[in-house]
Amino acid sequence: MGLMKLLSSKGSENLFLPAHGRGMALPEKLKELLKLKPGIWDLPELFEIGGPLINDGAIAESQNASASKLGVDRCWYGVNGATGLLQSSLLALARPGQAVLMPRNIHKSCIQACLFGGLIPILFDIPFLSDRGHASVFDRKWLQRVFKKAKELDEDIAAVVLVNPTYQGYSADIEALIKEIHSHSLPVLVDEAHGAYFISQIRPDIPKSALSFGADLVVHSLHKSAPGLVQSAVLWSQGEKVDPFKIERSIELLQTSSPSSLLLASCESSIKELLESKGKKKLISRIHEAESLSEFLISNGVPLLENRDPLRIILHTSKFGLSGIDVDKDFIKKRIIGELAEPGTLTFCLGFSSHKKLGKRFVKIWNEIVKLSFSQKEFSFFKRPPFNLVSKPFKPCSSSWGSNFEKVNLKDSIGRISVEMVCPYPPGIPLLVPGEILDEARVSWLLEQRNFWPDQIPDFVRVIS
Ligand SMILES: Cc1ncc(COP(=O)(O)O)c(C=O)c1O
Repeated sequence: MGLMKLLSSKGSENLFLPAHGRGMALPEKLKELLKLKPGIWDLPELFEIGGPLINDGAIAESQNASASKLGVDRCWYGVNGATGLLQSSLLALARPGQAVLMPRNIHKSCIQACLFGGLIPILFDIPFLSDRGHASVFDRKWLQRVFKKAKELDEDIAAVVLVNPTYQGYSADIEALIKEIHSHSLPVLVDEAHGAYFISQIRPDIPKSALSFGADLVVHSLHKSAPGLVQSAVLWSQGEKVDPFKIERSIELLQTSSPSSLLLASCESSIKELLESKGKKKLISRIHEAESLSEFLISNGVPLLENRDPLRIILHTSKFGLSGIDVDKDFIKKRIIGELAEPGTLTFCLGFSSHKKLGKRFVKIWNEIVKLSFSQKEFSFFKRPPFNLVSKPFKPCSSSWGSNFEKVNLKDSIGRISVEMVCPYPPGIPLLVPGEILDEARVSWLLEQRNFWPDQIPDFVRVIS
């Protein structure tokens, strides 16, 4: 089927991102705009409109209004997803040769920023949930141990990045983590790609945004966790630790010189939706609906895992000896399309649109899958990754990436230095980054991971020749 046909096809239950549910939950104002003569809204940075980096015009006004409504100093709308704004943030936070402390579940975009910005990623291990194979959240004590170990590396650490919530909707005590980082006089960037709607603060039991706890920079992916169009995102900043000039010059370095007016309008409208009462009311009802769905599924024997984001449902497939990647294919055959298929789970994103009749259909499909899986294996635990608590690549990311390379079989790669990332997508969390050594433990773990993600991890790796 051609692209145009695919884009206009209907008939499936969309439990994937973008969270606007194929337009169903787009903000009314944006829907009205899209109903106008096609293309009428596609404008350049005209004098009255401006752009994310221009001090005057409608976009500057809109960014100022959003920041002041949220009670922070500044914000910049982005048209290259959270990816672009995370990368700009990192370039603003650290100079070439400086180090940035980041967890092992960091999104690949941050490693890419280290690569082209000449930064040193100091990667720290995080707790692992071996019953499902997920990275988990960590607490202040854990972070204190990380700081202690990181100092032994004797690098010039310029900033810390946190990822919260995770793709699956786990959320840490982010306030305590920010306090710890600030106690070291370091700025913190929080990748809140999956937690934009936390700024709505609609209920005390739903996590608050890191912005409420003084995070210096926070990036939201507005298509993942707000009802924005794909590629829309926002970077918020507050406090004195990061110079806005450095942020702007870094955005300018990476941003297209022709940011899409439609995407910028989508940034504005989706943020408004999260902060204004009409949008909040809709969100409250979506969350009620999502909670009823989860209760219904659990009461009908569907194995769901607990998290902090009611709009994300984690099906624990490995509890029944099944791979989330295989189960995803079975759901797709029945026209229910999930978001994040992993070896032990399948995460569905309910997003901001309604899924009222989903419960019974879901239970029926799941029961059929379980019944038909003759090859059902025993429930098995996932091995934790063989990462040290803290480590940095053996050779700088950037020079490794730029080195002459050769392709070797993964099983023959012991002792070699990788020039590339190995990174199943989604979730986009690197299992190996450029400059890291493939020691015996890493190679045997990667080979095992290859069995879990057969189409995502190749059986070869490019290493420095
Ligand atoms: C934790 C995390 N951060 C950042 C991103 C990048 O978001 P975007 O697709 O908006 O560039 C992703 C995408 O999957 C993500 O999972």
